[in-house]
Amino acid sequence: MPSPLSAPRSNLPVPSTYDPVAARVRGFGATVFAEFTALANATGAVNLGQGFPNFSAPDFVKEAARAAIAGDFNQYARSAGHPRLVQALAQVYGAHFGRTLDPMTEIVVTVGATEGIFATVQALVDPGDEVILLEPFYDSYPAAVTMAGGVPVYVPLRAPAGSRRAADWTLDIDELVAAITPRTKLLILNTPSNPLGKVFHRAELAKLAEVVCRLNLTVLSDEVYEWMVYPPVEHVRIATLPGMWERTVTLGSAGKTFSVTGWKIGWAIAPRPLAAAILMAHQWIPFAVSTPLQEAVAVALEDAAPRDYFRWLSDMYLAKRDRLISVLEEVGLAPMTPDGSYFIIVDTRALPVPVTPGERRDVAVCRWLTQTIGVAAIPPSPFYSEAHQHLTDNLARFTFCKTDEMLAEAARRLQTIKRVR
Ligand SMILES: Cc1ncc(COP(=O)(O)O)c(C=O)c1O
Repeated sequence: MPSPLSAPRSNLPVPSTYDPVAARVRGFGATVFAEFTALANATGAVNLGQGFPNFSAPDFVKEAARAAIAGDFNQYARSAGHPRLVQALAQVYGAHFGRTLDPMTEIVVTVGATEGIFATVQALVDPGDEVILLEPFYDSYPAAVTMAGGVPVYVPLRAPAGSRRAADWTLDIDELVAAITPRTKLLILNTPSNPLGKVFHRAELAKLAEVVCRLNLTVLSDEVYEWMVYPPVEHVRIATLPGMWERTVTLGSAGKTFSVTGWKIGWAIAPRPLAAAILMAHQWIPFAVSTPLQEAVAVALEDAAPRDYFRWLSDMYLAKRDRLISVLEEVGLAPMTPDGSYFIIVDTRALPVPVTPGERRDVAVCRWLTQTIGVAAIPPSPFYSEAHQHLTDNLARFTFCKTDEMLAEAARRLQTIKRVR
C-alpha cells in the first residue's frame, strides 16, 4: 500500500469561493506583543514591551516540576484540577477570601488565566449578551467575548490631565450605570490591572459591587497580579465584599505568581454553580491541564508560605519598579506610578516623534523608542476600543519584570532621550 506521504499532490485549483475561515476570527490580527517583540528582536532593542520575566524561575519551583515528571504524574489530570493543586489553592486562598473553599467544587484549574477568561465567558455569556469591559482592558477580553457571540461594551477609566499615579485613573460610576442595559450579563474587572498597574481600592470596589448586586450582574475578576501589590496599598478581592462571593469568578495564574509564564497553569475560584458552569465549558476546551505542572504548582504553593515567597516577590518587583520609575523620570518620560502589576504607563508628550498620516501616535512613539533609542515599549491603543484609542496617543507601556542587568542596559539607552528632547 503506498504511503500517504508519497501520494501525488493534488493539482486541483482552489476555487475563488473557498473561504474556510469563520467570521469570529476573521477580524483578528497579530497581537501588538508579537509585532513589537519581532521589532525588538530585529533591531536588537532591550525588550521592555512584553510582560514575561526574563529571569530564572525559583529553584524550588523548577525542582518541583522535575520531581513531578520523575514521579510519574504524567497521565491526564482530573478535569477540574489535580487534587493536590486544588487542595493547595483552597488552603492559600481560603485565608484571603475569609471562607473555607471547597477544593472539589469551587475551583477549576485552567490553561493559564487565559483559558480561565475564555471558559468563564463561554460558560456565562449567550449570543447577544453584553459584557462591560473597563478601558484600558487586557486584550484577550474582547476576543473572548466576541468568540462567545457576546457584545463588548466599553467604559473607559479616566485620569485628570498630568496625572502621575495609576491610582488617579478612576471609574465614573454614573458612566458605568449608563452603559448597562437589560442585556448586560457580565463585567470584567482587572485588579491589579494591565496595562495601568491600577489597584482598585476598597471604596471603589464597594461602589462597583453595589451596582453589580443591584443590577444582577456577574463579575469576572482577573487578579493574576494579586501578589505584586506595593505597600501601603493592599489588594482587595471584590469577591470578599458583601453579596459578591455568589456573583464573582476570581482568576489567578501560576505563570505570574511563580515566574513560569510558559507553564500556562491558572485557576478560577467561584461559588459552586459558577464553577460548575465553567467546568462544563472547560471539559470541552482542553478537558484537563498538564498533570506534572499542576503537581509542581501544588508543591510550590505549599512551600510558598513557609518561604515567605509572596512577600519576597512583591519586594523584588517593588525594587525594580522604583528603579525604572527613577530612570523614566530622569529622562522626561513622565511615569504614572503603578500600585501593582509589573507595568508602568508613561506620558510621552515630551518626545518630538514624527507621526505619518494614518498612524497612531502611540504606535509611532513605541516604534521610535524601539528603533532609535533601542528600548521596546508597547503602545497601549490595543487596550482600547477603536472609539477610545485616541486616549492613548501620548502613552506607552513599559514592563519591569526583567533582570537588573537588562533594566540597567535599558536605563543606559534611555539616557539618549535627553539629547533629542
Ligand atoms: C491581565 C492579564 N490576565 C491574564 C493574563 C494571562 O495569564 P496566563 O499567562 O496565566 O494565561 C495576562 C498575561 O499577560 C494578563 O496580563
